[in-house]
Amino acid sequence: MSNFTVISRNGQVVSVEGRAGISLMEHIRDAGVDELLALCGGCCSCATCHIYVDDDVQEHLPSLSVDEDDLLDSSDHRLPQSRLSCQIPFAPELAGMIVTLAPED
Ligand code: FES
Repeated sequence: MSNFTVISRNGQVVSVEGRAGISLMEHIRDAGVDELLALCGGCCSCATCHIYVDDDVQEHLPSLSVDEDDLLDSSDHRLPQSRLSCQIPFAPELAGMIVTLAPED
């Protein structure tokens, strides 16, 4: 199984089946977690898909782009684990990870 876990802002825990190549943002929205607004639709221009990715899989994540880094800087809730979920395609190495929705800015 390639599942991963999403924790919503109100603490709801959702198990999601990972599909390789599909962004984490799309997975989270498809799972019905509608707190994740993703207003720009994945174009890396809104930062409303902000998540925290657990430390165990950080080494398997794609590098942060300049645009993603700039957008995350605009958040009051940026942490070292912060990423934009639209910029991370699911990969088998990410199975078992836990992602948490960041507070809304
Ligand atoms: S959906 Fe807008 S930056 Fe990710």
